[in-house]
Amino acid sequence: MAEHFPISPTERQAGLLALFRVARIIPVMTLERVEDAVPLARALVAGGIRHLEITLRTPVAAEAAAAIIAGVPEAVVGIGTVVTAADLARSLQLGAHFALSPGATPALLAAAAASPLPFVPGIATASELMAALAHGFDLVKFFPAVPAGGLAALKALGAPFPQVRFCPTGGIDAGNAAEWLALPNVVAVGGSWLTPAADIRAGNWAAITERAHRAIAPRR
Ligand code: 3PG
Repeated sequence: MAEHFPISPTERQAGLLALFRVARIIPVMTLERVEDAVPLARALVAGGIRHLEITLRTPVAAEAAAAIIAGVPEAVVGIGTVVTAADLARSLQLGAHFALSPGATPALLAAAAASPLPFVPGIATASELMAALAHGFDLVKFFPAVPAGGLAALKALGAPFPQVRFCPTGGIDAGNAAEWLALPNVVAVGGSWLTPAADIRAGNWAAITERAHRAIAPRR
């Protein structure tokens, strides 16, 4: 479980950036059953991936995140699909290390700026990015990365904002992750390709470990 001490926004952002630089590849996990949570997280850790995003997209999501935080201490757990200030408060209460959102509403940005929990807003336009920056968030998700224009869009969007670092998600997979990671302002990528629903449903943990291994292999 992560503890969040009062630190300056600058220190908070520096810590978050360091965490994402180490992570490089972050599985976006959607759990339908609580009992899958710990074996899935262990399978990823066994494959060399320990920074995880658990999405608040299912009724069991918070319980699944709590199970991983308690049962897989090697995992560095982020809560994803944080849409409201209440989701953010819940993420902090769960003991997450960080939180992520697909978007950047004024209400969520204000709540996150006032929270000790490190937060990564999602942006797809310059105006959303400017709103995130105005609240002190200089590490953002570029979401949905591929449908929103892919590498060309991120290159263009990043140009006026050289201080911003990105974690693209949405349409990233084994075939294109390396191209995204090669961009100098991309510190990590995220995606659901590492944890296919069919493998989770079948308890095919070995396949998930193997996929994680392959995902990190080229850079080790
Ligand atoms: C996210 O929340 O980051 C996305 O749902 C991940 O997108 P993907 O399923 O295309 O990887």
